[in-house]
Amino acid sequence: MLSLKVAFFAALAEALVLPKGLSSISLEGCLKKLPHGQSAGSVANVTITSGGLLRYYLIAIPPTYHNEVPTPAILSYHGGERTAESQLELDELTSPQFNTNSFVIYPQGINDFWQGVPNVTVNDLQFTADILDHVQEQYCIDPTRIFATGKSDGAGFCNVLACDKKMSSRIAAFAPVSGAFYVNTSSCAADTVQIPCNPSRHDIPFLEFHGGNDTTIHYQGGARKQECLPSIPHFIQQWAARDGLSLHNVTTPISSNTVSYKYGSGVNFGLVEHVYDAVIGHDWPSTAPNADNQVSGHHIASFNATPIILEFFKQHPLSVWDLLAEI
Ligand SMILES: *[C@@H]1O[C@H](CO)[C@@H](O)[C@H](O)[C@H]1NC(C)=O
Ligand SMILES: *[C@@H]1O[C@H](CO)[C@@H](O)[C@H](O)[C@H]1NC(C)=O
Ligand SMILES: *[C@@H]1O[C@H](CO)[C@@H](O)[C@H](O)[C@H]1NC(C)=O
Ligand SMILES: *[C@@H]1O[C@H](CO)[C@@H](O)[C@H](O)[C@H]1NC(C)=O
Ligand SMILES: *[C@@H]1O[C@H](CO)[C@@H](O)[C@H](O)[C@H]1NC(C)=O
Repeated sequence: MLSLKVAFFAALAEALVLPKGLSSISLEGCLKKLPHGQSAGSVANVTITSGGLLRYYLIAIPPTYHNEVPTPAILSYHGGERTAESQLELDELTSPQFNTNSFVIYPQGINDFWQGVPNVTVNDLQFTADILDHVQEQYCIDPTRIFATGKSDGAGFCNVLACDKKMSSRIAAFAPVSGAFYVNTSSCAADTVQIPCNPSRHDIPFLEFHGGNDTTIHYQGGARKQECLPSIPHFIQQWAARDGLSLHNVTTPISSNTVSYKYGSGVNFGLVEHVYDAVIGHDWPSTAPNADNQVSGHHIASFNATPIILEFFKQHPLSVWDLLAEI
């Protein structure tokens, strides 16, 4: 079935006569040997030029990788003042307990921040497109299963990607954790602030995690760095509205102190989801100690975010039509 999929995309790509440079639906990397020195189950450190700057990302090659099998890829963006290396330690996406079959890509922000954070002028949308072009050229990546997650400012950047015309049809689903979703307005009404967003499709799968005791990016939102953070309920309801879903949610307990709010109905049930843990702080939710929950005043969570993210991604690949819309 998988080789049929390769054949299908190859035929499709050929039939379309792809414009030069358009690699988003290519399977160019399939059947290629891994770059020199790289192997399945290892992490490579790759430097590329983007926007005239030398930039790097880490890429974890799944232990089960075979170059004839189109393989999912997850972009995972570090928090502000953190690094690609620290995000790899934090997100558990490379832990064999949770994931053995997706690539995980850890881009590094300039000065450890991302586009979308107040006063950051770097083009990280371009950097992300350049990374995807590069990895799709080298590895057999399934163009319908490219996903994005991240923490804090990196989660905010996931929203920048989801709101971008091009990237919203190249990345299938988004799962930001403890996100800082800055809006540049002078006054800040956190429950009603208009959130600029221009995705190219209206069925974007979006899952956000937030702690009720987040003292960095408050659940209730408010002014920060001279810009405005929307309250998380307002922010997530705006995603439901953008996807044409009712603002009514189905509330399900996940573990002690933690509930999931799902929006949508029928085939779209759960297209937009928010997981709220009332008692944790500005943390990547994990039942194991990590760099976030071991900070003084913090504690482990009653659930793991990572398998929920992976399951959400599994449920929400892009359709070929979404990819074509990008052209
Ligand atoms: C990856 O390469 C960059 C740039 O050369 C370097 O700063 C960083 O420390 C390297 N990280 C790892 C894990 O090797
Ligand atoms: C925020 O908006 C102000 C006023 O429109 C503008 O001058 C400023 O450059 C914007 N800041 C950023 C980071 O885009
Ligand atoms: C952003 O830049 C403006 C203009 O240089 C400055 O006034 C403002 O304090 C900066 N904001 C932050 C959050 O650093
Ligand atoms: C979900 O619905 C419940 C019940 O109507 C409501 O109390 C809660 O605030 C909603 N959650 C969000 C995030 O809107
Ligand atoms: C909330 O977080 C703060 C700051 O990390 C911590 O000092 C406080 O003990 C936490 N409160 C609860 C109820 O966990």
